[in-house]
Amino acid sequence: MTQHKRTQVGIIGAGPAGLLLSHLLALRGIDSVVVELRSRAYCEARQRAGVLEQGSADLLRAAGAGARLDAEGLEHGGIYLQFGGERHHLDFRDLAGASVTVYAQTEVVKDLIAARLAAGAALEFEVTGTAVDGIETDRPVLRYTAADGTRREVSCDAIAGCDGFHGISRPALQAATPGGHSVFERAYPYSWLGILASVPPSTDELIYSRHDRGFALHSLRSRQVSRLYLQVPPDTDIADWPDDRIWAELQARLGLPGWDLKEGPVLEKNVTPMRSYVSEPMRRGRLFLAGDAAHIVPPTGAKGLNLALADVAVLADALTALLDGRPALADAYSRTCLDRVWRSTHFSWWMTTMLHPTPGADAMEGKLQLSQLRYVTSSRAAAASLAENYTGYPPLPAGI
Ligand code: FAD
Ligand code: PHB
Repeated sequence: MTQHKRTQVGIIGAGPAGLLLSHLLALRGIDSVVVELRSRAYCEARQRAGVLEQGSADLLRAAGAGARLDAEGLEHGGIYLQFGGERHHLDFRDLAGASVTVYAQTEVVKDLIAARLAAGAALEFEVTGTAVDGIETDRPVLRYTAADGTRREVSCDAIAGCDGFHGISRPALQAATPGGHSVFERAYPYSWLGILASVPPSTDELIYSRHDRGFALHSLRSRQVSRLYLQVPPDTDIADWPDDRIWAELQARLGLPGWDLKEGPVLEKNVTPMRSYVSEPMRRGRLFLAGDAAHIVPPTGAKGLNLALADVAVLADALTALLDGRPALADAYSRTCLDRVWRSTHFSWWMTTMLHPTPGADAMEGKLQLSQLRYVTSSRAAAASLAENYTGYPPLPAGI
Protein backbone atom coordinates (compact mmCIF):
# COMPACT_ATOMS: atom_id res chain seq x y z
CA MET A 1 0.00 0.00 0.00
CA THR A 2 1.27 3.48 -0.84
CA GLN A 3 1.03 6.31 1.70
CA HIS A 4 0.26 9.72 0.20
CA LYS A 5 1.72 12.92 1.62
CA ARG A 6 1.85 16.54 0.66
CA THR A 7 4.63 19.11 1.04
CA GLN A 8 5.71 22.29 -0.69
CA VAL A 9 9.26 21.25 -1.63
CA GLY A 10 10.51 17.67 -1.91
CA ILE A 11 14.26 17.49 -1.32
CA ILE A 12 16.36 14.50 -2.36
CA GLY A 13 19.61 14.13 -0.40
CA ALA A 14 20.70 15.20 3.11
CA GLY A 15 24.16 16.47 2.18
CA PRO A 16 25.08 20.12 2.77
CA ALA A 17 22.90 21.29 -0.17
CA GLY A 18 19.68 19.47 0.77
CA LEU A 19 19.96 20.23 4.48
CA LEU A 20 20.70 23.93 4.08
CA LEU A 21 17.92 24.30 1.50
CA SER A 22 15.39 22.71 3.85
CA HIS A 23 16.60 25.01 6.63
CA LEU A 24 16.48 28.22 4.50
CA LEU A 25 12.99 27.33 3.24
CA ALA A 26 11.77 26.75 6.80
CA LEU A 27 13.03 30.22 7.76
CA ARG A 28 10.77 31.54 4.99
CA GLY A 29 7.80 29.52 6.24
CA ILE A 30 7.99 26.89 3.48
CA ASP A 31 7.74 23.22 4.43
CA SER A 32 9.78 20.45 2.89
CA VAL A 33 10.39 16.72 3.08
CA VAL A 34 14.03 15.57 2.89
CA VAL A 35 14.77 11.96 1.89
CA GLU A 36 18.26 10.45 2.25
CA LEU A 37 19.64 7.13 1.07
CA ARG A 38 22.18 6.70 3.86
CA SER A 39 21.92 6.58 7.66
CA ARG A 40 22.32 9.69 9.81
CA ALA A 41 25.57 8.30 11.28
CA TYR A 42 27.00 7.71 7.78
CA CYS A 43 26.14 11.25 6.62
CA GLU A 44 27.71 12.74 9.76
CA ALA A 45 30.96 10.76 9.43
CA ARG A 46 31.66 10.97 5.67
CA GLN A 47 35.04 12.75 5.37
CA ARG A 48 35.05 15.35 2.64
CA ALA A 49 35.75 19.06 2.36
CA GLY A 50 37.23 21.32 5.01
CA VAL A 51 37.35 24.94 3.81
CA LEU A 52 34.46 27.42 3.91
CA GLU A 53 34.63 30.61 1.89
CA GLN A 54 33.87 33.75 3.89
CA GLY A 55 30.44 34.02 2.19
CA SER A 56 29.59 30.38 3.05
CA ALA A 57 30.47 30.90 6.72
CA ASP A 58 28.43 34.12 6.78
CA LEU A 59 25.50 32.32 5.12
CA LEU A 60 25.51 29.60 7.80
CA ARG A 61 25.70 32.27 10.52
CA ALA A 62 22.84 34.28 9.00
CA ALA A 63 20.77 31.07 8.87
CA GLY A 64 21.31 30.57 12.61
CA ALA A 65 23.58 27.55 12.10
CA GLY A 66 26.87 29.24 13.00
CA ALA A 67 27.26 28.76 16.76
CA ARG A 68 29.66 25.80 16.66
CA LEU A 69 31.30 27.16 13.51
CA ASP A 70 32.14 30.32 15.48
CA ALA A 71 33.35 28.36 18.50
CA GLU A 72 35.36 25.66 16.70
CA GLY A 73 36.06 26.91 13.16
CA LEU A 74 39.60 28.15 12.52
CA GLU A 75 39.78 31.38 10.56
CA HIS A 76 42.64 31.35 8.05
CA GLY A 77 43.92 34.51 6.42
CA GLY A 78 45.93 32.82 3.68
CA ILE A 79 47.67 29.74 2.31
CA TYR A 80 51.21 28.64 1.50
CA LEU A 81 52.27 27.68 -2.01
CA GLN A 82 55.37 25.49 -2.09
CA PHE A 83 57.50 24.63 -5.14
CA GLY A 84 61.16 24.36 -6.14
CA GLY A 85 62.23 23.93 -2.50
CA GLU A 86 60.63 27.20 -1.32
CA ARG A 87 57.45 28.04 0.58
CA HIS A 88 55.61 31.29 -0.15
CA HIS A 89 52.77 32.81 1.86
CA LEU A 90 49.73 34.45 0.23
CA ASP A 91 47.95 36.83 2.62
CA PHE A 92 44.27 36.81 1.64
CA ARG A 93 43.28 39.58 4.06
CA ASP A 94 45.81 41.91 2.49
CA LEU A 95 45.23 40.76 -1.12
CA ALA A 96 41.45 40.33 -1.18
CA GLY A 97 40.19 41.72 2.13
CA ALA A 98 38.75 38.31 2.99
CA SER A 99 39.53 35.08 4.82
CA VAL A 100 38.33 31.46 4.86
CA THR A 101 37.31 29.21 7.75
CA VAL A 102 38.55 25.67 8.26
CA TYR A 103 35.49 23.78 9.50
CA ALA A 104 34.88 20.24 8.28
CA GLN A 105 31.91 19.28 6.11
CA THR A 106 31.10 16.58 8.69
CA GLU A 107 30.52 19.36 11.24
CA VAL A 108 28.40 21.46 8.85
CA VAL A 109 26.24 18.39 8.22
CA LYS A 110 25.95 17.60 11.96
CA ASP A 111 24.92 21.21 12.72
CA LEU A 112 22.29 21.29 9.97
CA ILE A 113 20.82 17.87 10.82
CA ALA A 114 20.55 18.92 14.49
CA ALA A 115 18.89 22.23 13.50
CA ARG A 116 16.38 20.51 11.19
CA LEU A 117 15.46 17.81 13.70
CA ALA A 118 15.12 20.37 16.52
CA ALA A 119 12.63 22.24 14.33
CA GLY A 120 10.63 19.02 13.84
CA ALA A 121 11.47 18.76 10.13
CA ALA A 122 10.50 15.76 8.01
CA LEU A 123 13.94 14.25 7.46
CA GLU A 124 13.99 10.56 6.52
CA PHE A 125 17.18 8.50 6.42
CA GLU A 126 17.81 5.12 4.79
CA VAL A 127 15.17 5.47 2.09
CA THR A 128 15.40 3.42 -1.12
CA GLY A 129 13.85 3.49 -4.59
CA THR A 130 13.75 7.30 -4.83
CA ALA A 131 12.06 8.48 -8.06
CA VAL A 132 10.50 11.67 -9.45
CA ASP A 133 7.52 12.01 -11.73
CA GLY A 134 5.48 14.79 -13.35
CA ILE A 135 8.29 17.34 -13.30
CA GLU A 136 6.72 19.16 -16.26
CA THR A 137 3.55 19.75 -14.22
CA ASP A 138 3.04 22.07 -11.23
CA ARG A 139 2.43 19.02 -8.96
CA PRO A 140 5.56 16.89 -9.33
CA VAL A 141 5.67 13.71 -7.27
CA LEU A 142 8.51 12.31 -5.14
CA ARG A 143 8.34 8.54 -4.55
CA TYR A 144 10.45 6.44 -2.20
CA THR A 145 10.40 3.50 0.15
CA ALA A 146 10.86 4.52 3.79
CA ALA A 147 13.25 2.70 6.15
CA ASP A 148 10.32 0.70 7.57
CA GLY A 149 9.46 -0.59 4.07
CA THR A 150 6.42 1.68 3.50
CA ARG A 151 6.12 3.03 -0.03
CA ARG A 152 5.47 6.80 0.04
CA GLU A 153 4.32 9.26 -2.58
CA VAL A 154 4.74 12.97 -1.83
CA SER A 155 2.90 15.53 -3.92
CA CYS A 156 5.05 18.70 -4.15
CA ASP A 157 5.07 22.18 -5.68
CA ALA A 158 8.72 21.68 -6.64
CA ILE A 159 11.47 19.11 -6.20
CA ALA A 160 15.13 19.87 -5.43
CA GLY A 161 17.65 17.26 -6.56
CA CYS A 162 20.45 17.60 -3.97
CA ASP A 163 21.49 13.95 -4.25
CA GLY A 164 25.11 14.34 -5.27
CA PHE A 165 26.93 13.02 -8.31
CA HIS A 166 25.54 9.46 -8.11
CA GLY A 167 21.91 10.40 -7.41
CA ILE A 168 18.79 9.95 -9.52
CA SER A 169 17.89 13.62 -10.10
CA ARG A 170 20.38 14.52 -12.81
CA PRO A 171 19.55 11.43 -14.93
CA ALA A 172 15.83 12.24 -14.47
CA LEU A 173 16.37 15.84 -15.62
CA GLN A 174 18.54 14.77 -18.55
CA ALA A 175 16.00 12.12 -19.64
CA ALA A 176 13.27 14.80 -19.61
CA THR A 177 15.43 17.16 -21.67
CA PRO A 178 16.47 15.03 -24.69
CA GLY A 179 18.85 17.01 -26.87
CA GLY A 180 18.27 20.01 -24.64
CA HIS A 181 20.98 19.43 -22.06
CA SER A 182 24.76 19.58 -22.29
CA VAL A 183 27.46 17.84 -20.32
CA PHE A 184 31.01 19.21 -19.99
CA GLU A 185 33.51 16.83 -18.47
CA ARG A 186 37.22 16.42 -17.81
CA ALA A 187 38.84 13.50 -15.99
CA TYR A 188 42.33 14.05 -14.58
CA PRO A 189 45.00 11.33 -14.79
CA TYR A 190 45.49 11.24 -11.00
CA SER A 191 43.55 10.81 -7.74
CA TRP A 192 44.03 12.09 -4.19
CA LEU A 193 44.91 9.76 -1.34
CA GLY A 194 43.63 11.50 1.81
CA ILE A 195 44.40 10.74 5.44
CA LEU A 196 42.99 11.96 8.70
CA ALA A 197 45.70 11.79 11.37
CA SER A 198 45.64 12.24 15.11
CA VAL A 199 48.46 14.77 15.24
CA PRO A 200 48.47 18.56 15.72
CA PRO A 201 48.93 20.38 12.40
CA SER A 202 52.56 21.19 11.59
CA THR A 203 51.47 24.46 9.97
CA ASP A 204 49.36 27.51 10.83
CA GLU A 205 47.82 27.64 7.32
CA LEU A 206 47.23 25.14 4.49
CA ILE A 207 50.28 24.18 2.42
CA TYR A 208 49.74 23.39 -1.29
CA SER A 209 52.96 21.81 -2.57
CA ARG A 210 53.96 21.13 -6.17
CA HIS A 211 56.77 18.57 -6.16
CA ASP A 212 58.31 16.55 -8.99
CA ARG A 213 57.15 13.40 -7.11
CA GLY A 214 53.57 14.73 -7.20
CA PHE A 215 51.30 17.20 -5.42
CA ALA A 216 50.77 17.18 -1.64
CA LEU A 217 48.48 19.19 0.62
CA HIS A 218 48.69 19.77 4.35
CA SER A 219 45.26 20.72 5.69
CA LEU A 220 43.73 20.32 9.13
CA ARG A 221 40.54 19.63 11.00
CA SER A 222 41.29 21.03 14.45
CA ARG A 223 44.19 21.84 16.75
CA GLN A 224 44.61 18.09 17.35
CA VAL A 225 43.72 16.54 13.98
CA SER A 226 45.46 16.97 10.62
CA ARG A 227 44.17 16.20 7.12
CA LEU A 228 46.78 15.47 4.44
CA TYR A 229 46.59 14.50 0.78
CA LEU A 230 48.92 12.99 -1.83
CA GLN A 231 48.55 12.90 -5.60
CA VAL A 232 48.47 9.19 -6.61
CA PRO A 233 47.69 7.28 -9.85
CA PRO A 234 43.95 6.99 -10.60
CA ASP A 235 43.75 3.22 -10.11
CA THR A 236 45.49 3.29 -6.72
CA ASP A 237 44.67 0.46 -4.33
CA ILE A 238 44.73 1.82 -0.78
CA ALA A 239 46.19 -1.54 0.36
CA ASP A 240 49.43 -0.58 -1.42
CA TRP A 241 49.78 2.43 0.90
CA PRO A 242 50.62 1.36 4.45
CA ASP A 243 50.91 4.28 6.86
CA ASP A 244 54.74 4.31 6.76
CA ARG A 245 54.75 4.73 3.01
CA ILE A 246 52.20 7.58 3.21
CA TRP A 247 54.24 9.48 5.82
CA ALA A 248 57.50 8.95 3.89
CA GLU A 249 55.91 10.35 0.73
CA LEU A 250 54.38 13.30 2.61
CA GLN A 251 57.81 14.03 4.14
CA ALA A 252 59.41 13.93 0.67
CA ARG A 253 56.84 16.25 -0.94
CA LEU A 254 56.22 18.70 1.92
CA GLY A 255 59.57 18.67 3.73
CA LEU A 256 61.86 21.69 3.86
CA PRO A 257 65.10 22.21 5.76
CA GLY A 258 64.31 23.61 9.23
CA TRP A 259 60.63 22.58 9.12
CA ASP A 260 59.28 19.44 10.69
CA LEU A 261 56.22 17.48 9.53
CA LYS A 262 54.88 15.83 12.69
CA GLU A 263 53.54 12.27 12.26
CA GLY A 264 50.79 10.51 14.21
CA PRO A 265 48.31 7.62 14.06
CA VAL A 266 46.28 7.49 10.83
CA LEU A 267 42.58 7.45 11.73
CA GLU A 268 41.18 7.07 8.21
CA LYS A 269 42.38 6.92 4.61
CA ASN A 270 40.66 6.98 1.23
CA VAL A 271 41.26 7.63 -2.48
CA THR A 272 39.19 10.21 -4.40
CA PRO A 273 39.15 10.54 -8.20
CA MET A 274 39.59 14.00 -9.71
CA ARG A 275 37.01 15.25 -12.15
CA SER A 276 35.47 18.42 -13.55
CA TYR A 277 31.83 18.00 -14.62
CA VAL A 278 29.01 20.44 -15.39
CA SER A 279 25.50 19.50 -16.56
CA GLU A 280 23.43 22.33 -18.05
CA PRO A 281 20.73 23.46 -17.49
CA MET A 282 20.21 22.96 -13.75
CA ARG A 283 16.43 23.10 -13.99
CA ARG A 284 13.69 21.38 -15.97
CA GLY A 285 10.06 22.25 -15.20
CA ARG A 286 9.65 21.87 -11.44
CA LEU A 287 12.87 19.86 -10.90
CA PHE A 288 15.88 21.92 -9.75
CA LEU A 289 19.39 20.49 -9.32
CA ALA A 290 21.81 21.86 -6.69
CA GLY A 291 25.37 21.02 -5.63
CA ASP A 292 27.22 17.91 -6.78
CA ALA A 293 24.04 16.66 -8.50
CA ALA A 294 24.75 19.26 -11.20
CA HIS A 295 28.51 19.82 -11.05
CA ILE A 296 31.78 18.41 -9.70
CA VAL A 297 35.11 20.18 -9.32
CA PRO A 298 38.49 18.67 -8.41
CA PRO A 299 39.19 19.52 -4.74
CA THR A 300 42.36 21.59 -5.32
CA GLY A 301 40.40 24.86 -5.20
CA ALA A 302 38.32 23.82 -2.14
CA LYS A 303 35.14 24.78 -3.99
CA GLY A 304 32.75 21.76 -4.01
CA LEU A 305 31.06 22.38 -0.68
CA ASN A 306 30.99 26.15 -1.23
CA LEU A 307 29.28 25.80 -4.61
CA ALA A 308 26.65 23.50 -3.09
CA LEU A 309 25.84 26.11 -0.41
CA ALA A 310 25.79 28.97 -2.94
CA ASP A 311 23.37 27.07 -5.23
CA VAL A 312 20.83 26.56 -2.46
CA ALA A 313 21.06 30.18 -1.31
CA VAL A 314 19.89 31.13 -4.82
CA LEU A 315 17.37 28.28 -4.94
CA ALA A 316 15.71 29.18 -1.62
CA ASP A 317 14.93 32.67 -2.96
CA ALA A 318 13.82 31.31 -6.34
CA LEU A 319 11.44 28.74 -4.81
CA THR A 320 10.01 31.22 -2.33
CA ALA A 321 9.10 33.57 -5.17
CA LEU A 322 7.85 30.74 -7.42
CA LEU A 323 5.48 29.44 -4.74
CA ASP A 324 4.22 32.99 -4.37
CA GLY A 325 3.36 33.12 -8.10
CA ARG A 326 6.49 35.01 -9.18
CA PRO A 327 8.53 32.76 -11.52
CA ALA A 328 11.29 35.18 -12.63
CA LEU A 329 13.96 34.01 -10.14
CA ALA A 330 13.19 30.34 -10.85
CA ASP A 331 13.46 31.04 -14.56
CA ALA A 332 16.86 32.64 -13.95
CA TYR A 333 18.02 29.94 -11.47
CA SER A 334 20.17 27.89 -13.82
CA ARG A 335 21.79 30.92 -15.45
CA THR A 336 22.45 32.59 -12.09
CA CYS A 337 24.11 29.51 -10.58
CA LEU A 338 26.09 28.57 -13.67
CA ASP A 339 27.97 31.90 -13.64
CA ARG A 340 29.49 31.00 -10.27
CA VAL A 341 29.80 27.31 -11.18
CA TRP A 342 31.92 28.10 -14.24
CA ARG A 343 34.11 30.56 -12.31
CA SER A 344 34.79 27.86 -9.70
CA THR A 345 35.21 25.22 -12.40
CA HIS A 346 37.87 27.32 -14.08
CA PHE A 347 39.64 28.17 -10.81
CA SER A 348 39.65 24.52 -9.69
CA TRP A 349 40.99 23.36 -13.06
CA TRP A 350 43.64 26.10 -12.97
CA MET A 351 44.83 25.28 -9.43
CA THR A 352 44.81 21.56 -10.28
CA THR A 353 46.81 21.81 -13.50
CA MET A 354 49.28 24.30 -11.95
CA LEU A 355 50.07 22.05 -8.98
CA HIS A 356 49.91 18.43 -10.26
CA PRO A 357 52.66 17.06 -12.52
CA THR A 358 50.89 15.01 -15.22
CA PRO A 359 52.32 11.46 -15.31
CA GLY A 360 54.39 11.03 -18.48
CA ALA A 361 54.29 14.74 -19.40
CA ASP A 362 57.33 16.27 -21.11
CA ALA A 363 59.70 18.66 -19.31
CA MET A 364 57.87 21.67 -20.73
CA GLU A 365 54.84 21.13 -18.49
CA GLY A 366 56.99 21.41 -15.36
CA LYS A 367 58.63 24.58 -16.64
CA LEU A 368 55.22 26.15 -17.33
CA GLN A 369 53.86 25.16 -13.91
CA LEU A 370 56.89 26.62 -12.12
CA SER A 371 56.69 29.81 -14.15
CA GLN A 372 53.02 30.22 -13.23
CA LEU A 373 53.74 29.54 -9.54
CA ARG A 374 56.57 32.10 -9.55
CA TYR A 375 54.23 34.63 -11.16
CA VAL A 376 51.46 34.02 -8.60
CA THR A 377 53.93 34.44 -5.72
CA SER A 378 55.73 37.51 -7.08
CA SER A 379 53.09 39.63 -8.81
CA ARG A 380 50.57 41.31 -6.50
CA ALA A 381 47.98 41.31 -9.32
CA ALA A 382 48.34 37.55 -9.88
CA ALA A 383 48.33 36.79 -6.15
CA ALA A 384 45.23 38.96 -5.67
CA SER A 385 43.44 37.02 -8.41
CA LEU A 386 44.13 33.70 -6.66
CA ALA A 387 43.10 35.18 -3.29
CA GLU A 388 39.87 36.62 -4.68
CA ASN A 389 38.87 33.29 -6.23
CA TYR A 390 39.90 31.16 -3.24
CA THR A 391 37.98 33.28 -0.72
CA GLY A 392 34.90 33.29 -2.98
CA TYR A 393 34.02 35.10 -6.19
CA PRO A 394 31.62 36.69 -6.70
CA PRO A 395 31.05 37.31 -2.97
CA LEU A 396 27.69 35.96 -1.81
CA PRO A 397 25.18 38.71 -1.03
CA ALA A 398 25.10 39.39 2.72
CA GLY A 399 22.05 38.19 4.66
CA ILE A 400 19.55 35.53 3.66
P1 FAD B 1 26.56 15.34 -1.23
O1 FAD B 1 27.33 15.79 -0.07
O2 FAD B 1 27.12 14.27 -2.10
O3 FAD B 1 25.13 14.90 -0.71
C1 FAD B 1 24.21 14.18 -1.50
C2 FAD B 1 23.38 13.30 -0.61
O4 FAD B 1 22.39 12.65 -1.40
C3 FAD B 1 24.21 12.20 0.04
O5 FAD B 1 24.00 12.21 1.43
C4 FAD B 1 23.72 10.93 -0.62
O6 FAD B 1 23.78 9.81 0.23
C5 FAD B 1 22.28 11.30 -0.98
N1 FAD B 1 21.70 10.52 -2.08
C6 FAD B 1 22.32 10.05 -3.19
N2 FAD B 1 21.45 9.38 -3.96
C7 FAD B 1 20.25 9.43 -3.33
C8 FAD B 1 18.97 8.92 -3.64
N3 FAD B 1 18.75 8.22 -4.77
N4 FAD B 1 17.95 9.13 -2.77
C9 FAD B 1 18.17 9.85 -1.62
N5 FAD B 1 19.38 10.38 -1.29
C10 FAD B 1 20.40 10.15 -2.13
N6 FAD B 1 35.24 19.16 -1.77
C11 FAD B 1 36.17 19.98 -1.30
O7 FAD B 1 36.02 21.19 -1.42
N7 FAD B 1 37.27 19.45 -0.66
C12 FAD B 1 37.46 18.08 -0.50
O8 FAD B 1 38.44 17.65 0.07
C13 FAD B 1 36.50 17.21 -0.99
N8 FAD B 1 36.62 15.85 -0.87
C14 FAD B 1 35.62 15.04 -1.39
C15 FAD B 1 35.73 13.65 -1.27
C16 FAD B 1 34.75 12.80 -1.83
C17 FAD B 1 34.89 11.29 -1.70
C18 FAD B 1 33.64 13.37 -2.49
C19 FAD B 1 32.58 12.47 -3.11
C20 FAD B 1 33.53 14.77 -2.57
C21 FAD B 1 34.52 15.60 -2.03
N9 FAD B 1 34.43 17.01 -2.09
C22 FAD B 1 35.39 17.81 -1.62
C23 FAD B 1 33.31 17.67 -2.66
C24 FAD B 1 32.30 18.13 -1.60
O9 FAD B 1 32.34 17.27 -0.50
C25 FAD B 1 30.97 18.15 -2.29
O10 FAD B 1 31.03 19.15 -3.29
C26 FAD B 1 29.78 18.38 -1.36
O11 FAD B 1 29.59 17.22 -0.56
C27 FAD B 1 28.51 18.65 -2.18
O12 FAD B 1 27.40 18.64 -1.35
P2 FAD B 1 26.00 18.11 -1.90
O13 FAD B 1 25.05 18.30 -0.79
O14 FAD B 1 25.73 18.71 -3.22
O15 FAD B 1 26.24 16.56 -2.21
C1 PHB C 1 40.44 19.58 3.22
O1 PHB C 1 40.76 20.06 4.32
O2 PHB C 1 39.87 18.48 3.14
C2 PHB C 1 40.77 20.31 1.99
C3 PHB C 1 41.28 21.60 2.07
C4 PHB C 1 41.60 22.29 0.91
C5 PHB C 1 41.41 21.69 -0.32
C6 PHB C 1 40.88 20.42 -0.39
C7 PHB C 1 40.57 19.73 0.76
O3 PHB C 1 41.74 22.38 -1.45
